[in-house]
Formats: sequence, structure tokens, C-alpha cells
Amino acid sequence: MRALVVFLAPVWLLAQQARDTCVECHTVMEGELQKPALLMKGDVHTASALSCADCHGGDRFSDDPTVAMNKAKGFIGKPKRTEIPQLCAKCHSSPDFMRRYRPQQRVDQFELYKTSVHGKRLATGDETVATCIDCHSVHDIRGVKDNQSPVHPLRLPDTCGRCHADAQKMAKYKIPTNQLAEYKTSVHWSALAKRGDLSAPNCASCHGNHGAKPPEVESVSAVCGSCHVLFAQLYEKSVHQPIFSAASGGGGCIVCHSNHGIHQPSVAMLAGPKAVCSGCHEAGSAGAKTAEQMAQLLDGLDASLTRSENTLTLADKYGMEVSEAQVKLLDGKENLVKARLMMHSFRIEDMSKPVEAGMGVAAETLRAGQAALHDKDVRRMGLAVSVFFIAITVAAIWLLLRRQESDGSGYIEASASQITKE
Ligand code: HEC
Ligand code: HEC
Ligand code: HEC
Ligand code: HEC
Ligand code: HEC
Ligand code: HEC
Ligand code: HEC
Ligand code: HEC
Ligand code: HEC
Repeated sequence: MRALVVFLAPVWLLAQQARDTCVECHTVMEGELQKPALLMKGDVHTASALSCADCHGGDRFSDDPTVAMNKAKGFIGKPKRTEIPQLCAKCHSSPDFMRRYRPQQRVDQFELYKTSVHGKRLATGDETVATCIDCHSVHDIRGVKDNQSPVHPLRLPDTCGRCHADAQKMAKYKIPTNQLAEYKTSVHWSALAKRGDLSAPNCASCHGNHGAKPPEVESVSAVCGSCHVLFAQLYEKSVHQPIFSAASGGGGCIVCHSNHGIHQPSVAMLAGPKAVCSGCHEAGSAGAKTAEQMAQLLDGLDASLTRSENTLTLADKYGMEVSEAQVKLLDGKENLVKARLMMHSFRIEDMSKPVEAGMGVAAETLRAGQAALHDKDVRRMGLAVSVFFIAITVAAIWLLLRRQESDGSGYIEASASQITKE
């Protein structure tokens, strides 16, 4: 008997350790009291054997609610909104604690959060701003790479939009509420959502996850250059840089491209009724003339390359060998891309180099295409001539046969009449 007790004691202890009266009791409750217990099954913390009491405190081994949820046992109940970041930071800002579960995990979320507009306003008691749970949810927190997580790149815009696209909620701040709608019309969202290109920016790529701005970026408006490096290098040295800089209330790239509704750029930005340049450069001014000239250069190269391409396509359709020229044409298109890039120094001299090179390719490939079409005509002419001679020969043979045929039948007719006469 004694042996049995000794034998069973560790089993009883284990069962006791695995008990979680918070989960047990809340699972059989209703509504808001039950929901957390059901949701927690899919939570990332449950997977690491963390549970209700690790956030809410209390005694998870007691069946008596007055003991289980006793302040003396550290029970905090439902935390106030303003206290949530500290609650999460209890573990997430502790390198020693986090190392036990995930050695590589960052522990700076709370420190960064305090530098953001959200964090600063929460510190003054404003409860409308985002806390950790507004972006990550609560009781249903997922790993950030989980595609069901509200911070997954494809879901995050709607997560931010829950507040930022809600005119009523944002009314007291007097800031626009069009960011989500604009962003969803952008080249970035279409690269992300339609092409699945996760390198395209979502809200947090530009605004930072936790801090006021992403690391290594001195201001949000300078964020474009962290991905579009070559464009930024040219722009940095351009006449516009000091004028559009943060110091003069500028905005850099977004002066011409906007921030949320960035659309596919085209020469329509340079010249014509929708040109961005004409907003500042009056017709006839040096800037306007340059814009006009740049549009002509880009349009000219584009049109020449298109003409070469059409000619080569036609020749190819007729079965002429033009693959070498078609490969060469890719160089020309590369030059057009380069010209659009070089435009960002806003100096004709820089842009004309790739344009000239591209025009050279366009001319060369056009010649190749035209030569192929010419060869095709010559071959066709040759074919027509030989068909003509073959036809004449066939006709001559036919006539000859006809003649012989009619000679022969005449003889028969003649003999037949002779017989009847006889
Ligand atoms: C035997 C049942 C029972 C157990 C065990 C129990 N609870 Fe509760 N819990 C309740 C009931 C009933 C309420 C609602 C009434 C109340 O607030 O006391 C509640 C309320 C809560 C609330 C909401 C409090 C608020 O301020 O709105 C939290 C949070 C909570 N429980 C967490 C826990 C945690 C953590 C544990 C384990 C340490 C636990 N509960 C154990 C029954 C239980
Ligand atoms: C990772 C930390 C964390 C864990 C783990 C956790 N909670 Fe919570 N819980 C919170 C936070 C934060 C809130 C406040 C939510 C809010 O303000 O909307 C909350 C709110 C609640 C509420 C109040 C709900 C309401 O809307 O009134 C209850 C009840 C509750 N939790 C029970 C539980 C139970 C039961 C478990 C375990 C099954 C659990 N919690 C696990 C962080 C946690
Ligand atoms: C404004 C939205 C937002 C708020 C507020 C927020 N987070 Fe995050 N969090 C994110 C995003 C976005 C990511 C990155 C997702 C990714 O890498 O794809 C992230 C990532 C994380 C990660 C994974 C490790 C890391 O740093 O990348 C942890 C842990 C985390 N957040 C905890 C917190 C905690 C704790 C708080 C509160 C102090 C908080 N978050 C507040 C949006 C937010
Ligand atoms: C008791 C300590 C503790 C508390 C309190 C806590 N967490 Fe965690 N959290 C962890 C641990 C440990 C992990 C790592 C789990 C894993 O990845 O296996 C984690 C993981 C996460 C992740 C996933 C990170 C990733 O890399 O995918 C997010 C997001 C997160 N927690 C958010 C929160 C939020 C929000 C709160 C506050 C409501 C919170 N946590 C409170 C300990 C805690
Ligand atoms: C729970 C609601 C809520 C969520 C979710 C939320 N925000 Fe906010 N955000 C606010 C409020 C409220 C302000 C304060 C507005 C102000 O002070 O102008 C704010 C301020 C900001 C600001 C500063 C605006 C300014 O004044 O210049 C930025 C940028 C911002 N949020 C970006 C985001 C991004 C990005 C996300 C998602 C990753 C997000 N927010 C999620 C409520 C939210
Ligand atoms: C490509 C980068 C980029 C992306 C993506 C982006 N923003 Fe912005 N956002 C900016 C820039 C740049 C500003 C202007 C900041 C400044 O003037 O300092 C801005 C300004 C804001 C502001 C301040 C109010 C305003 O409209 O001027 C809020 C709020 C905001 N963004 C929220 C969001 C939300 C929500 C998303 C996702 C739906 C988002 N942003 C996506 C770059 C971006
Ligand atoms: C996180 C990286 C990242 C950031 C930050 C970023 N972009 Fe982009 N951008 C991309 C990617 C990826 C594409 C898609 C490229 C493609 O279409 O092949 C893109 C496409 C574009 C395009 C269309 C280019 C084309 O050839 O179709 C423009 C214009 C653009 N971005 C401007 C900006 C501006 C302006 C900003 C700053 C407000 C910015 N981007 C911030 C990554 C970024
Ligand atoms: C003064 C206005 C202006 C500024 C400032 C500006 N751009 Fe542009 N950008 C343009 C115009 C105009 C085009 C369209 C050229 C065309 O397609 O004809 C363009 C095109 C682009 C393209 C698409 C190129 C392609 O191959 O289609 C990208 C990407 C781009 N810009 C990024 C940036 C970035 C990043 C910055 C800041 C470092 C920036 N731009 C600053 C006017 C500007
Ligand atoms: C927000 C106003 C603004 C926009 C938009 C703008 N510029 Fe400018 N630009 C200026 C200012 C200010 C100067 C310096 C004063 C000047 O020379 O007119 C300048 C200077 C220039 C110069 C040098 C002019 C000279 O005198 O040598 C060129 C070239 C130029 N811009 C081209 C463009 C082109 C091309 C676009 C459109 C893609 C454009 N700018 C859009 C404000 C703007």
C-alpha cells in the first residue's frame, strides 16, 4: 500500500501541474467569460504552455474562484487599456525570459512603441489609439508569420484601417481617413495582393511595426529610398532635394508620387493636363521646358522601340529568322527603363545618354526587321516567278496532249465513217 502511494505520488503531482482551473471553469461559462477559453486553443502562447494566469495572475490550481481569482495571488482581472503594453512587456521586454522560449526573438517592442504616436498618446491617457492587442488581437494571438495573423502583410492594411478608415473614430484628431482606400489603388498593394510580392510595402513597412518609423530611416518620407535605392541616389543630388526636404516641410518622392495612392508612373506626369511638374513650373520656364523635353525623349524612344518590335513580330510571323534582333531589342527596353531612372536627376544631359543608346538599338533592330521583311518579299517574288513558269510549262504540256488527243480521235471518226459508207 505504501509502495503504491510512493508509486502514484509523481503521477498525482503531474496531473496537478497540468491542471488549469481557469481554463476548466471559463470553458463552461457563457459569452464574454467563455470566449477567451475557447479562443486560447489557437493562441501562440498556449503552444508554449503559457496560460490565463501568466497574463491575468491568480492561482490556476484552485477550484475555488475566490482563491483562484484573488488579488493576493496576483490576480489583475481585465487589464485597463492603458496598462496592456506593460502587461505584454512583462515577458516581451525581458531578454532572460524570452531566451528560454525563443533565443532570436527581439525584446524592443515596448521601447519602440513608446516612441510612436500611438504610444505617446496612450501615455497621456488617450484610449482610442492602438495598443498591442489592436494589431495582434488577444486570446487569439498568432505567430506573426502565420497567414491568419492580423499583422500578416496581406491582412495588416485592414487591421490599421479598422481605426484609420473609421471617420467617426478618427474625427477628433482631424487627420485624413483615406489611407486604406488610397493604398488599395496603389502599385504597391497590387504587387503585394495580385502578384504575391511580399517585398512590396504594407503600412508597417513605411510606418514601422512598433516605433514611429522603420529602423535606419530618418523620416517616414525618406522611406522610399530604403527600397528604391538608385532612384533615391539620383534624387538626393538633384535640384529638388533641398526644396522638397523635410527641413522645408517637403516630403521628397511623395511630392510627385504621393504616399498612399502611388500609381503606375508615365509621361503624363511630365507633360499634358495631368503633369505634376506644371503645378510648380509655369509654361515657358526652364523647369517646364525641361519637363517637355524629357517627355519627348521618353515618348520618342518608346515609340521607336514599339515600331521595331512590331516590325520584328511581323517578320517572325512570316517565318523569317529574327531572334537575334529580338534579343537585341531587350537592350533597348533596358535603356528605356534606365532613362526613366536617370530622369530623377532632372538633368537632360544625364537622361539623354540611355535615350541615345536606346534609339541606336531601335534603329538597328528596325533595320533588321525591315531587311527580313524585304527578304520575305524577294523570296515571294522568286516563288511567284517559278510558279508562273511552272504554270506555263503545265499549260504547254496540256495543250500538246490535247492536240495529240484530237488528232487520234479524228482518225477514228474518219475510219468509222468509211465503214458506214462501205
Ligand atoms: C470556478 C470558476 C472560475 C475559476 C476557477 C476562474 N474563474 Fe475567472 N471568472 C469566473 C466568473 C464567474 C467570473 C465573472 C465574475 C467575476 O468577475 O468574479 C470570472 C471573471 C474573470 C475575469 C474577468 C474579470 C473582469 O475584471 O472582468 C478574468 C480576467 C478571469 N476571470 C480570469 C481568470 C483566471 C486567470 C483564472 C485562473 C487563475 C480564473 N479566472 C479562474 C469564474 C472562474
Ligand atoms: C497574452 C495575455 C493573455 C492571456 C494568456 C489571456 N488573457 Fe484574458 N485578457 C488579456 C487582455 C490584454 C485582456 C483585455 C482585453 C481588452 O481590453 O479588450 C483580457 C481580457 C480578458 C477577459 C475580459 C473579457 C471582456 O471583454 O470583458 C476575460 C474574461 C479573460 N481575459 C479571460 C481569460 C482566460 C480565461 C484566459 C485563459 C483561457 C485568458 N484570459 C488568457 C490578456 C490575456
Ligand atoms: C500598430 C500595430 C502594432 C502594435 C501597436 C504592436 N505591434 Fe507587434 N507587430 C506588428 C507588426 C506589423 C509586426 C511584424 C510582423 C512581421 O514581421 O511580418 C509585429 C511584430 C511583433 C512581434 C514579433 C517580433 C518582432 O518584433 O518582430 C512581437 C513579439 C510583437 N509584435 C509584440 C508586440 C507587443 C508586445 C506590442 C505592445 C507593446 C506590440 N507588438 C504592438 C504590429 C504592431
Ligand atoms: C508570460 C509571458 C508573456 C506575456 C505576458 C505575453 N507574451 Fe507574447 N509570447 C511569449 C512567449 C514566450 C512567446 C514565444 C512563443 C513561441 O513563439 O513559441 C510569445 C509570442 C508572442 C507573439 C508571436 C511572436 C512571433 O515571433 O511570431 C506575439 C505576437 C505575442 N507574443 C504578443 C503578445 C501580446 C500582444 C501580449 C500582451 C497582450 C503578450 N504577447 C504577452 C510570452 C508572453
Ligand atoms: C485601435 C485603433 C488604431 C489602430 C488599429 C491603428 N491606429 Fe494608428 N492611430 C490611431 C489613433 C487614434 C491615432 C492618433 C491620431 C493623431 O494623433 O493624429 C493614430 C495615429 C497614427 C499615426 C500618426 C498620424 C499623425 O498624426 O501623423 C500613424 C502614422 C498611424 N497611426 C499609423 C498606423 C498604422 C500603420 C497602423 C497599423 C499598423 C495603425 N496606425 C493602427 C488609432 C489606431
Ligand atoms: C509607401 C509608404 C507608405 C505606405 C505603404 C503607407 N504609408 Fe502612410 N504615410 C506615408 C508617408 C510618407 C506619410 C507622410 C508622412 C509625413 O508627412 O511625415 C504617411 C502618412 C500617414 C498618416 C498620417 C495622416 C496622413 O494621411 O497624412 C497615417 C495615419 C498613415 N500614413 C497611415 C497609413 C496606413 C493605415 C497605411 C496602410 C493602409 C499606410 N499609411 C501605408 C507612407 C506610407
Ligand atoms: C519595402 C520596400 C518599398 C518601399 C518602402 C517603397 N517601395 Fe515602391 N515598390 C516596391 C516594390 C517591390 C514595387 C513593385 C516593383 C515592380 O512592380 O516590379 C514598387 C513599385 C513602385 C512604383 C512603380 C514602379 C514600376 O516600375 O512599376 C513606384 C512609382 C514606387 N514604388 C514608388 C515608391 C515611393 C514613392 C515610395 C515611398 C513613399 C515607395 N515606393 C516605397 C517596394 C517599395
Ligand atoms: C519631381 C517629381 C518626381 C520626384 C520628386 C520623384 N519622381 Fe519618380 N517619377 C517621376 C516621373 C515624372 C516618373 C515617370 C517617368 C515616365 O514613366 O515617363 C517617375 C517614375 C518613377 C518610377 C517608375 C520608373 C519606371 O521604370 O517606370 C519609380 C520607381 C520612381 N519614380 C520612384 C521615385 C522615388 C523612389 C523617388 C524619391 C527618391 C522619386 N521617384 C521622386 C517624377 C518624380
Ligand atoms: C512642388 C513644386 C515642384 C514640382 C512639382 C516640380 N518642381 Fe522642379 N523645381 C521646383 C523649384 C522650386 C525649383 C528651383 C527654382 C527654379 O529653378 O524654378 C525647381 C527646379 C527645377 C529644374 C531646374 C530649373 C533651372 O532653372 O535650371 C528642373 C529642370 C526641374 N525643376 C524639373 C522639374 C520636373 C521635370 C518636374 C516634374 C517631374 C518638376 N520639376 C516638378 C519646384 C518643383
